[in-house]
Amino acid sequence: MNIGIKYCGGCNPTYDRKSVVSGLKEHFNKGHTIETSKQGIVYDVVIILCGCSSACVSINNLEAKYEKICITSGNDNNKLFNIIDKINVLSLGRVIYMNLKEIYESKVITAEQAATKIKSGNRVVTGHACGEPTELINAMVANCEDYENVEIVHMVAMSESEYSKPGMEKHFRHNSLFVGGSTREAVNCGRADFTPCYFSEVPSLFNECLPVDVALIQVSTPDEHGYCSFGVSIDYTKPAAKKAKLVIAEVNNKMPRTMGDSFIHVSEIDYIIEASHNIIELKPPKIGDIEKAIGQHCASLVEDGSTLQLGIGAIPDAVLLFLKEKKDLGIHSEMISDGVVELVEAGVITNNAKTIHPGKIVVTFLMGTQKLYDFVNNNPMVEVYSVDYVNDPTVIMKNSKMISINSCVQVDLMGQVASESVGLKQISGVGGQVDFVRGSNMCKNGKSIMAMASTAAKGTVSKIVPLLAEGSAVTTGRNDVNYVVTEYGIAKLKGKNLKDRARALINIAHPNFKNKLIEEWEKRFRLKF
Ligand code: COA
Repeated sequence: MNIGIKYCGGCNPTYDRKSVVSGLKEHFNKGHTIETSKQGIVYDVVIILCGCSSACVSINNLEAKYEKICITSGNDNNKLFNIIDKINVLSLGRVIYMNLKEIYESKVITAEQAATKIKSGNRVVTGHACGEPTELINAMVANCEDYENVEIVHMVAMSESEYSKPGMEKHFRHNSLFVGGSTREAVNCGRADFTPCYFSEVPSLFNECLPVDVALIQVSTPDEHGYCSFGVSIDYTKPAAKKAKLVIAEVNNKMPRTMGDSFIHVSEIDYIIEASHNIIELKPPKIGDIEKAIGQHCASLVEDGSTLQLGIGAIPDAVLLFLKEKKDLGIHSEMISDGVVELVEAGVITNNAKTIHPGKIVVTFLMGTQKLYDFVNNNPMVEVYSVDYVNDPTVIMKNSKMISINSCVQVDLMGQVASESVGLKQISGVGGQVDFVRGSNMCKNGKSIMAMASTAAKGTVSKIVPLLAEGSAVTTGRNDVNYVVTEYGIAKLKGKNLKDRARALINIAHPNFKNKLIEEWEKRFRLKF
């Protein structure tokens, strides 16, 4: 970069111009050309030094391609150098990024080099769900001998989570905010930790309880303005990157460019590794007769013009199958999958009746196949925001006719819902369930639905039980639960006393377990069922 310096006319006779300029050259010698500005030359940047503190030097006749910076330092050279050190032309990024390519290239390193930037004792937050930066994580695991006690904070982990496997205890400690298939065993064996939290509050945890040393993220290639998109995962990933001391990005040319508040500028990234691999996919689940029956009951609660939140899995996908005759549905959801694309193409999801973000699908992450990723790429209909906005119950409630549909593992006869553990065994996490249950309950004409098969473990246990298994965490409290749906029908609990809500739940239990539940009901309420 070509830098011209202009200094003032000398109204301050004690101003030691010479030493300032030579000191400046020394301090600013970072591969840039720096000289006293000459008339007729257009510099990339002009720095104007004013020897007094009144910025009296005229800058009007100076030409700079990108930026004119005026520094008033008086005689305090140290103060001047301090300011200049802080400027560091490259890191000015957005102000003078005359040469984006240069800024980008200065940050590119190999995955192996990136792994060496992580230090023992660091807290590392990794990109979420299908946005997991797999090459960075693999390089970090391969470099494990260099680390002791690196904490890995992650939520839905889609890859193998090698850092939580036996043998890694000395190097890594996984702190899971949502247990999944690849981390369940580690958490339940005591090799990894689980931290209970609402999804909406995760960004605030990074402020208070879990300050971030390193954020490992995956983003799209930068656009012509230098902005990379977080693509399929903004959720807590963008907030983590905003707060981290060090941001290392896997820039993947296959990451879709999603809209909304989903961008990070290259100047905000410390190191870049370049990648070109397919985004992790979530294959569509098998939808059987039970899921179809549940889907049909849920769909019967959805009025035209409703805004929907749908979780992951066969039940939410089954609900979508029965919405084909509805009109003007909208989406404000933690995530969406492929099923939503079909309803948009069929003209069912228009988002036209939405009261906030009309015309837009609002989500915080995306999990599906390439079909979904192609649909969201550069699509202004889909806006992706951080989870502290999308999952904030006071935002969710602003939608009209908001309907949340989530799932659980057990419901007791009082309507208490366990979604994340069976006894002391941690199966998943609360995720956004309570955020959306609360938001939709607070919404005018809103409904929260808990949808589940009536049995688990191949039909051997009832999910509707007299008491939750000993040690189970209550995910959604009985005061928050509104509708419960199984393949046998719909139980509306809101406003019902304990006796009537228990009766409503027994009516949708599996026939094989009804008699036992009725026996319990009659004993508990001293009445005939
Ligand atoms: N007793 C014993 N085991 C049970 C059980 C019960 N009542 N209910 C479920 N399980 C077991 C299953 O057998 C299965 O075990 P396996 O993996 O060894 O086969 C495991 O728990 C998962 O159950 P499954 O029914 O297959 O789960 P799912 O994929 O349908 O997901 C939840 C159901 C509840 C786990 C999931 O919806 C969840 O995590 N919810 C909370 C988070 C949330 O709602 N987030 C908001 C939307 S993303």
